[in-house]
Amino acid sequence: AASPLILGIETSCDETGIGIVRGRTLLSNTIASSMDEHARYGGVVPEVAARAHLEALQAAIEAALAEAGVGLHDLDAVAVTSGPGLAGALMVGVGAAKALAVGLDKPLYAVNHLVGHIAADILDADAEPLEYPTVALLVSGGHTSLLLVRDLTTDVELLGETVDDAAGEAFDKVARLLGLPYPGGPQIDRAAVGGDPNAIRFPRGLSRASDMAKHRYDFSFSGLKTAVARWMEQQKAQGNEYSPADVAASFREAVVDVLVTKALDACAQYGVPRLLLGGGVIANKRLREVAIERAAKAGVTVRIPQLSLCTDNGAMIAALAAELVMSGRQPSTLAFGADSTLPV
Ligand code: KG4
Ligand code: ZN
Repeated sequence: AASPLILGIETSCDETGIGIVRGRTLLSNTIASSMDEHARYGGVVPEVAARAHLEALQAAIEAALAEAGVGLHDLDAVAVTSGPGLAGALMVGVGAAKALAVGLDKPLYAVNHLVGHIAADILDADAEPLEYPTVALLVSGGHTSLLLVRDLTTDVELLGETVDDAAGEAFDKVARLLGLPYPGGPQIDRAAVGGDPNAIRFPRGLSRASDMAKHRYDFSFSGLKTAVARWMEQQKAQGNEYSPADVAASFREAVVDVLVTKALDACAQYGVPRLLLGGGVIANKRLREVAIERAAKAGVTVRIPQLSLCTDNGAMIAALAAELVMSGRQPSTLAFGADSTLPV
């Protein structure tokens, strides 16, 4: 089909995402989140997420079809995230996708979640088409990855990723230290209002000269979280008053600084004048500001898809599969499973 009609299923974390695209056109993007169920645990609980997917899938598929104005039999293919992500959560989506594909006798495409985040950019109707090569920085509660995209369907290279916590996870953990609820990102943003981002110099992980050989494009945020905890304990022990706004702003600055520095370093090293941002942490206004400002100075153009396409969703999965279909890629056989550490 010239512009294939694809239904994409995304269940790698806590969002049950169903998206429908026709070629590069977004028809619907339905999301059911189990975020509220995880809130009291301060983070995503894998089995709770998997059960929630199982309960939400049917209604999400029906809503997406209704919104797109198409029926299951109109589909040209079904697409699903097979990894990386939470194993049990992925399995629910993979099982559902296989059942649909077999029941409808339609081709099935298993796709990589991270590459899906990049494909989200294609659905941005107002933007110029994605040009290659592009460096992509993907930051969410589950991943922090830097990729070099030479071609979306054939050549995506992982340059680096977090060696411990994801950036969003760091926001969630530091929010908890400050006594703020989950998810922490928006809470830290609110707490940082009026704070001085240079009040406390928190560490930038894996940024020493000695880290450059092995971890130039990798990230580490667990040390940062520990540094914030230790700093707060010290102030309390010494009986010092301190401003939570300064802590929030300084913490956020450390995360933003290291993310933007490494992404632009990759652009410079690989001679790539384009940077694509994706993942839920892109909701952070300070991150977008600093990225745009420093990129402009470096002669790099920043692309940011609309937020509903940046957070986990099924439309990006469908969009990637549409590109695969249009490039002549054969569908997956039914023998694939869920792979929590699927490489790009
Ligand atoms: O992409 P997403 O919705 O789900 C996955 O984690 O896959 O991202 C959620 C993460 C959470 O860790 C949340 O704290 C973080 O994104 N987040 C933010 C902001 N809004 C959400 N982090 C920093 N600043 C924000 N404004
Ligand atoms: Zn994601």
